[in-house]
Amino acid sequence: MTDAQWWKNGTVYQIYPRSFKDSNGDGIGDLQGIIDKLDTLNDGTENSLGIDAIWISPFYPSPMADFGYDVADYCDIDPMFGDLETFDRLVTEAHQRGIKIIIDWVPNHTSDQHPWFLESRSSRDNPKRDWYIWRDPKPDGNRPNNWGSIFGGPAWEWDEATGQYFYHMFVKQQPDLNWANPDVYAAMLDVLHFWFKRGVDGFRMDVVYLIAKTPGLPDNPLDPDADPSLPEDDIFSRQIHLYDGARPEVHEIIKDFRRISDQYDDRALIGEIWEDDIEKWVEYYGENGDELQLPFNFRFIQLQKWAADGAKAIVDMMEGAVPSAAWPNYVLGNHDRTRPATRVGGQGQARVAGMMLLTLRGTPTLYQGDELGMLEAKIPVDKIQDPWGINLGPERTRDGCRTPIQWDGSNYAGFSTVEPWLPIQDDYTWRNYADMSADSTSILALYKKLIWLRKKTPALNIGSYTPLNMPDGIFAYIRAEGGQRVLVALNFTAESKPLSLPGIGRILLSTHLDRQGAVSGVIELRGDEGVIVALD
Ligand code: NOJ
Repeated sequence: MTDAQWWKNGTVYQIYPRSFKDSNGDGIGDLQGIIDKLDTLNDGTENSLGIDAIWISPFYPSPMADFGYDVADYCDIDPMFGDLETFDRLVTEAHQRGIKIIIDWVPNHTSDQHPWFLESRSSRDNPKRDWYIWRDPKPDGNRPNNWGSIFGGPAWEWDEATGQYFYHMFVKQQPDLNWANPDVYAAMLDVLHFWFKRGVDGFRMDVVYLIAKTPGLPDNPLDPDADPSLPEDDIFSRQIHLYDGARPEVHEIIKDFRRISDQYDDRALIGEIWEDDIEKWVEYYGENGDELQLPFNFRFIQLQKWAADGAKAIVDMMEGAVPSAAWPNYVLGNHDRTRPATRVGGQGQARVAGMMLLTLRGTPTLYQGDELGMLEAKIPVDKIQDPWGINLGPERTRDGCRTPIQWDGSNYAGFSTVEPWLPIQDDYTWRNYADMSADSTSILALYKKLIWLRKKTPALNIGSYTPLNMPDGIFAYIRAEGGQRVLVALNFTAESKPLSLPGIGRILLSTHLDRQGAVSGVIELRGDEGVIVALD
């Protein structure tokens, strides 16, 4: 693997730092905790997970109204997570192990406690007033437009002292920045330089597609098909997002981000892009490959019905749409969505999903804990932390995928010495890193094998993708590079199915971790089984 292609050849692992490892006994994970676990992530041997890059969700000073996505200082570390010296050590220690560091950058909004916003709010003629989106009420006293906040309620908050509203797409403690203001633009680009100079290898850019706003901020049309049972406060879900969504101007801004990134060696930009229209989604690579290296592809997360034909349709669409000079990517889970092991219908399918993620042509992003098959936790209502769940009802909470990583069977799962910020799941006594590392048939053992096999096998890593025609319920493809051809066949059902092999081969890995060796003709693919077969 050449260094310059790390974002293409490597496996990315998302760390949600609050829930990864607590090193100082306050019930919340921290940067030292990440350092302490780096060997588990990659110590250069196949005993470790073998990931190549970590993306760390925000660790900046923050009042934590949205658990760090409300940033009060882009160039420092919240004391809860550590300090800049610890961050520098993390970069050094990670790099010593060949692990790249991707950090989260939140360009759409700051915290309402960010000094920029405090100044902006202080008076109408403050030089930073225009750094945010302030508007007068309508002549009838109403809000400037009908937009809703994703997290519930209107997207406008009244400021009594200065007699104007400010706009916030997320909670009211997250005012949107005004990217049309050149000083905002320059200050935010300085932030990129600050971290690049500190040695970070890339950024994951939070809702970057939303930063350019529609001139005039017109009302959104109401969605006639909106679900009538939506909570009254869910204004956002009852509208068609014609005017508060992505704007074409954002591409020019992203090109500037890329120009900065390209001033440094081997850096990469990943963007959080929610865009259903594939043509528009592809535009985030840039016409000349001059925007994001990886616009996150969330289509597996959005797949309504977990089935072979649905998964194949997504991959075929990606293969058809991503320009040949660009590189696909796949995301199975993250800190905002239901855990895959719950979503795909059980541990057997979670293994199949993991095998798919790690054998496709495209960078895989794995969310912490999915390698343990962690399930979506049921959080008691009085323990809900997420503002989405608090504002719009417990079924919206994202806490269920954010519970602490289960390291061992000791108190608090070895995550902390005190009660953590979110409850530990009951299955920690056996679903944990220590026990599953000792069990050669665990899903963790499978993930390790998959990640290392991908690394060692050019066909699986950078090879071409050719789908095969298969009976219902099976998704199969060949990855090929040079003379190497590898078949991947995934049974998305609980019934066994015959699999006709296109030649003679050798099973390299089964999701059941119980067979290897020479095969030919028709083999049985057991229920919930995926296999990787090296073809002769
Ligand atoms: C997307 C992040 O992934 C999510 O956790 C956050 O709440 C919103 N952006 C707002 O920053």
